[in-house]
Amino acid sequence: MAPVKVKKICCIGAGYVGGPTCAVIALKCPQIQVTIVDLNQARIDAWNSPDFDLPIYEPGLVDVVKASRGRNLFFSTDVDKAIQEAELIFVSVNTPTKKTGVGAGFGADLHYVESATRRIAAVAQNSKIVVEKSTVPCRTAESMRTILEANCKPGCRFDILSNPEFLAEGTAIQDLFSPDRVLIGSLQTQEGKDACGALASVYANWVPNGRILTVGLWSSELSKLAANAMLAQRISSINALSAICEATGANIDEVSHAVGYDSRVGSKFLRASVGFGGSCFQKDILNLVYLSESLHLPEVAAYWRQVVELNEYQKSRFSKTVVDTLFNTITGKHITVLGFAFKADTGDTRESPAISLIRDFLAERAYVTIYDPKVDAEQIWQDLAEANPNLPLELIKKQVTLAPSALEACKNKEAVVIATEWKEFKEIDWQVVYDNMTKPAFVFDGRLILDAEKLRKIGFRVKVIGRGSQ
Ligand code: UDX
Ligand code: ADP
Repeated sequence: MAPVKVKKICCIGAGYVGGPTCAVIALKCPQIQVTIVDLNQARIDAWNSPDFDLPIYEPGLVDVVKASRGRNLFFSTDVDKAIQEAELIFVSVNTPTKKTGVGAGFGADLHYVESATRRIAAVAQNSKIVVEKSTVPCRTAESMRTILEANCKPGCRFDILSNPEFLAEGTAIQDLFSPDRVLIGSLQTQEGKDACGALASVYANWVPNGRILTVGLWSSELSKLAANAMLAQRISSINALSAICEATGANIDEVSHAVGYDSRVGSKFLRASVGFGGSCFQKDILNLVYLSESLHLPEVAAYWRQVVELNEYQKSRFSKTVVDTLFNTITGKHITVLGFAFKADTGDTRESPAISLIRDFLAERAYVTIYDPKVDAEQIWQDLAEANPNLPLELIKKQVTLAPSALEACKNKEAVVIATEWKEFKEIDWQVVYDNMTKPAFVFDGRLILDAEKLRKIGFRVKVIGRGSQ
């Protein structure tokens, strides 16, 4: 059988991964009709909003959607119709860490993947290539295949591919336009290879052939977890060193620069910080830990678990620095947190270190004022309520204020904490901030973005991650 020529694509899940990925496919492949579906009506309405008020913030995304929406890019809640029409279906639903039951706190909650898969089996009238896009534990493709094969109609065949997405939020469009690599995993049967060829031909519209890697299904699934675990491991390594720098007077920027200069190490992903966040790193490492334990490899599990533990340590170490520096108590003090997103250039707050910091400050009964350029108020309240299950939202709202600008947020406060590396925080007029703060005025830079010397000259007392005072 010749490889299928893909004319219609369906993407199940209109989130941070499915939305941008399939919008870029539509842009780069005008001959293919791409329909992105989601059960969440509000999300789809936002993707379809006349003024392009999209449900996620991602630089450059609006232009991509503007170029294709209504031409060959469609957003809909009609999941069944999109499944029926497409030759190729991306499954791009959420796979959060399980909160209860077996593997709680570690394993991935696969019920969204399973229900999307069951829907495909239930409504498909002809053969489909089903592509797992969401990050999933190894061998999920196998489970999807079992469900599809057990439920398919005569004459329908399903080929499963793994095609993990490596985009990073904030640079998603750029990452999708020129990916380091596109990874496609398939069964090594002729049918599997043909399906792989069909998907590869979609990417070949803009990705050079040498960057499209084809591997076995399980290698592909494991590679995604491995890539995220190794990136996160670099951050935990540099963060562990930042603690040594603070204790000895060394400077983590200098250490990271010197180490990164070794071409075998490389300079990327060596920026010390208050800790990594985002929907992937922690989840994927915990997945790897769970997998290692299930495979009776406790030493391997312990190794990866430590990457997450170090990250927790880094966050609490930073909160403790704030408390210690503010004369060992922040009770009743006013602290500004600049940034709530897990990194700059996104409105996503999943696993954001800001949430842990604010939780710690609230536990010390400090007053907290938050400003973030992209995260909306509703999201902040939801995250704080989840992080403080013993504190009713009315009480949280008595301790926390949301400010409309960074300058406004800092007025009459004792301390400013940088939790996200938004560019606008570098460009604030820090003299004006200082003039309006309670004295002594403190700045805690958790992202290494400020010119500490300049701030000290203004009069601030400054603490920077990875920089000792000796
Ligand atoms: C990550 C992977 O980079 C991406 O390939 C995968 O598809 C999804 O997970 P993402 O979480 O969107 O992407 O952003 P990333 O840029 O990796 O940052 C993750 C966290 O690490 C952020 O909180 C960021 O601030 C932090 N980080 C990153 C550091 O603290 N130091 C660094 O040097 C780099
Ligand atoms: P990610 O960051 O992995 O893209 P998100 O949570 O941003 O994750 O997006 C996943 C989307 O998948 C959500 O909008 C959710 O409503 C959608 N979704 C989950 N299950 C299904 C399903 N069975 N059918 C359609 N959409 C689904």
